[in-house]
Formats: sequence, C-alpha cells, structure tokens
Amino acid sequence: MRAIGAAPRGAKREASGVRGRIVAACTRSISRHSTCAGLRTFAAPDHVAPATALTSASTVGVPPWDAWPHAPRVHLGIFVHRVIGLAPGLYVFVRAPEAAERLRRATRPDWLWLKCGPAALDLFRLVEHDLRDAARTVSCHQHIAADGCFALGMLADFAPVEREAWRYRELYWECGVVGQVLYLEAEAAGIRATGIGCFFDDAMHQLLGLPPGGAGPRPWQSLYHFTAGGAVDDPRLATLPPYSLAPRSRVAPASR
Ligand SMILES: Cc1cc2nc3c(=O)[nH]c(=O)nc-3n(C[C@H](O)[C@H](O)[C@H](O)COP(=O)(O)O)c2cc1C
Repeated sequence: MRAIGAAPRGAKREASGVRGRIVAACTRSISRHSTCAGLRTFAAPDHVAPATALTSASTVGVPPWDAWPHAPRVHLGIFVHRVIGLAPGLYVFVRAPEAAERLRRATRPDWLWLKCGPAALDLFRLVEHDLRDAARTVSCHQHIAADGCFALGMLADFAPVEREAWRYRELYWECGVVGQVLYLEAEAAGIRATGIGCFFDDAMHQLLGLPPGGAGPRPWQSLYHFTAGGAVDDPRLATLPPYSLAPRSRVAPASR
C-alpha cells in the first residue's frame, strides 16, 4: 500500500523542494510539450489525434483499450492542484465528444467550459480555484486527494443504467480500465497514484451542479475516484512477495 501526496505535514514546499519535484513529475505525467497529453491515453480511440504511441490515430488494437468493446461512457471531473501549464481548478475531460454537450447542460450553468490543452483533447476548465479542501472533503476527508498533483471523479453516463440496470457493472468495468491506465501512466511518469473508493458521490454531484440523488432518474453518476502525485511511503506497512503464503500444494503440485 502506498500513500500519495506532497510532503509530510510541516515540510517546506518551495518550487525547488518537494512541491517542485511533484510539479516536475506531474508535468511529465500530464503533459505533452509541457501541457496535458497524458490525458490522451484516456480519450476515446476514435477522437485522439495522432501524436504518441499511446494515442495514434487508430488506437484500435492498442492495449488496454482493445479489451473494451464499448464507446466511452466514463468521463473525468478533475481537481487540478499542481500541474504545470494548468491553473488550479475544476476541469472536465470528456472522453467521447458527443457527451460534452449533455454534460454541459446537466451541470452548473455558470461553469466556464474553457477549452484547455492540445486541440485534440476535450479538456475544459470549469472554474479556476484552489479546490484542495473540496477534493479532500469529497474524498471522505482523505488528504491524498488534496496533497498530490490532481484528483478526479469518474462521471459515468447513467442514462443506460436507468433503462437497463445490468449495465451498472459495465460502467464499473470501464472505471477499472481507466483506473489501471492511470496507475500505469503515473508509474511511467515517475509519480504514483491511488484509486479512491471512499468518496461522497452526492457531494461531488453537488459541486458540479448535477442533480442530487434521490428517487428520480439521474443522468450522471460519479462511480470511482482517483488521485496522482508524489509518493509518501508508510513505514508501518510491509510488502511481501506475492503468493508467499500460498500452500505448497496449490503452488506447484506437479513438482512433488
Ligand atoms: C477500488 C479501489 C479503491 C480504493 N480506495 C482507496 C481509498 O479510498 N483510500 C486509499 O487510501 N486507498 C484506496 N485504494 C488503494 C488501496 O488502499 C491500495 O493502496 C492499493 O490497492 C494497492 O495496495 P495492494 O497492492 O495491497 O492492493 C483503493 C484501491 C482500489 C483498487
């Protein structure tokens, strides 16, 4: 287990210190030419501009997206805290272009929806603000959502579930794929990430201006949260080799 965050409490956070390292790492993570191409990885295969191996014009057949047969229905509401090239604030990354307008109509009417980043990315700034407190609160008051580079909620297009309840699990599978890619991308960029399963979905919806939960149909539902940043190892935890406690009979029955 690992914790994500900036410095331990009380540590200095000048640009040359821990914060500087986090910002530098995050630049690699989220940026292309110092902007935000890392997010390309999470875009729909058919609307990603050719630029990197991860995001060639045709990512059909490129893992892990080749394992996912459906059009994207999970989009990202991002709390940007420390990312070079992006002002701190609330952003939405739309992974399927047709979802942008529906999301815009479903959320607060006074959001900016300011297009940010490379032209090929549907990344929009809703508001510029220090949202570290909000991100922490939404994430069951967990500091990892505020102390890293960014945190996000995965906003699932819930309309199909209202019609066909069994599609609920499909949305979770999609969140899982997005989460795994986030883990890998963070590691590749030299930072770390943590899935956040403990979050207040109603608070997230309220923040965005989405309709509150209740008896009526809900068009969007935050299903899974995530954060990325510099790692702070917890010395109280031990890491053991995988399967170290597996019974011999289950490990290698043929070698007896
Ligand atoms: C679905 C899911 C939800 C998680 N939720 C949280 C969370 O709310 N807070 C947290 O600190 N870590 C959370 N984690 C991270 C785990 O605590 C743990 O760091 C991660 O699974 C790696 O540890 P492991 O190798 O022992 O599984 C979550 C992980 C997953 C997969």
